[in-house]
Amino acid sequence: MFVYLLLLTVIATVEAQRVPGLQKTDSCLCKINSSIWTFPAVQFVEVTKEVQTCEENLNEFEEKLRNTDVELPSMGATLQNITARLEVFNYLHTSGLYNALHLRQLNQELEEIHQIVNEAHLQNPNNETHNLLSELKKAKNDVRRMYKDDFFNLETMKKRLQDLNNRAQTCKTIPNDFRSTCHQRIMTRISSPRVTKLNSISKSYISGAWGRDALLTNNRYWEHCLVSGNKHGNTIRVYNSHEDFMASKNYKDEQIAPSYSDKNAVQGSGTILYDNTVFYQCYETAEICSFNITSQSTERVKLDGAGIDNKFPFCYFSCRDWTDIDLEADQDAVWVIYATEENHGNIVVSRLDPLELNITHTWKTHLFKRSVTSTFMVCGVLYATRYVSNYQEEVFYAFDTTTGQEINTLSLPFEKVSAGIANLNGFRQLYI
Ligand SMILES: *[C@@H]1O[C@H](CO)[C@@H](O)[C@H](O)[C@H]1NC(C)=O
Ligand SMILES: *[C@@H]1O[C@H](CO)[C@@H](O)[C@H](O)[C@H]1NC(C)=O
Ligand SMILES: *[C@@H]1O[C@H](CO)[C@@H](O)[C@H](O)[C@H]1NC(C)=O
Ligand SMILES: *[C@@H]1O[C@H](CO)[C@@H](O)[C@H](O)[C@H]1NC(C)=O
Ligand SMILES: *[C@@H]1O[C@H](CO)[C@@H](O)[C@H](O)[C@H]1NC(C)=O
Repeated sequence: MFVYLLLLTVIATVEAQRVPGLQKTDSCLCKINSSIWTFPAVQFVEVTKEVQTCEENLNEFEEKLRNTDVELPSMGATLQNITARLEVFNYLHTSGLYNALHLRQLNQELEEIHQIVNEAHLQNPNNETHNLLSELKKAKNDVRRMYKDDFFNLETMKKRLQDLNNRAQTCKTIPNDFRSTCHQRIMTRISSPRVTKLNSISKSYISGAWGRDALLTNNRYWEHCLVSGNKHGNTIRVYNSHEDFMASKNYKDEQIAPSYSDKNAVQGSGTILYDNTVFYQCYETAEICSFNITSQSTERVKLDGAGIDNKFPFCYFSCRDWTDIDLEADQDAVWVIYATEENHGNIVVSRLDPLELNITHTWKTHLFKRSVTSTFMVCGVLYATRYVSNYQEEVFYAFDTTTGQEINTLSLPFEKVSAGIANLNGFRQLYI
């Protein structure tokens, strides 16, 4: 409720401060009154400092309570992670690039630390928990003030430019079969998971991907395990029916690469199967590989500027290793979800032509990739989820590639099969 009210405030303020652009020959000129630069930067720095102070206090606190059974190490890790993430927000801010969405996430994170500290306080109240609580309260007030006093317009301009760019992407010539046939564009609810199954290869492999051939005319199911450090893999197990898949029988193991350290081996858990072709991040590079099982041939395409090797993974309390590049497919296309430095670590979505293996479109979102736990695509709409509890996720964000619109006020909770879920693929049948 609190977050909701704040958002409304921001929108109202931003609306009142529009900076009109003028088209001059081939460029767009905007006059910005320099008085709008008096953004409350000092307050942002204060918040960052306060969170750092919290961390210091927490470290002492942790030291004191290390011998008790209170679960402080995880609190410490959380605060450290949040401090690390704040540094990025700070960078975004000093580059004049932070935005309302980042503030909202910051706010949610503050709320979450608050809950954790509150629990610790109830279990074992002492001066430190008391201080932490009052510091968190102050930090939250500061964030609230940042929302209220924000009359910073560069952000609005950047957002508008990016929206224009995304709309331009969408206007690019798009193959006929790309426009989705879904009549309702944004999902309204998500059913419980229908399929629960342990991987059939080995219980010791805890990371990988599985699913159905995304070209739904193929009734093919598959599983893929990362066998080396939860990072690399080189085989895929394919089943010709759902029954075989559930019973783990009548499968065929296909070799994607001769070994898990081959240049054509798989890296990370973003793998998908589309039209009997495996699409995945190529071994140790910012490239997408396709391995056509029918023709047994591998091709690759470069993903410009994509962060790899845990630069922009999916995160929540902790980050999931080797999740820099996520592949998704719907009936119409293969989608690549990643982040670039150029887009300040925010999610970039590219549409990949599965037959030509070239990138046809690229949209840049305002969603910081490290702030989401997972993404998936349905009907050309990218959805992002955040952690709610070990049993629940929430879809909180959508980006519609057919309109270039971002929606960050969704709240669609759904059950998850396991706490460590990192790779969700959207299936219309399953989720809508
Ligand atoms: C800039 O904005 C301030 C405050 O709104 C106003 O007083 C000032 O006249 C403006 N300057 C110009 C050049 O428009
Ligand atoms: C979060 O904390 C965990 C455990 O301390 C660490 O492994 C991980 O790298 C941290 N993530 C970030 C973004 O700092
Ligand atoms: C907590 O603070 C009070 C007053 O500042 C002080 O008297 C007390 O000794 C402190 N308790 C602990 C456990 O540090
Ligand atoms: C895979 O190879 C087969 C046979 O060469 C071809 O018909 C099919 O279109 C290829 N699929 C993809 C996705 O490239
Ligand atoms: C993708 O490849 C096809 C066939 O080679 C070509 O016609 C098309 O222009 C390419 N698209 C891009 C964006 O490179």
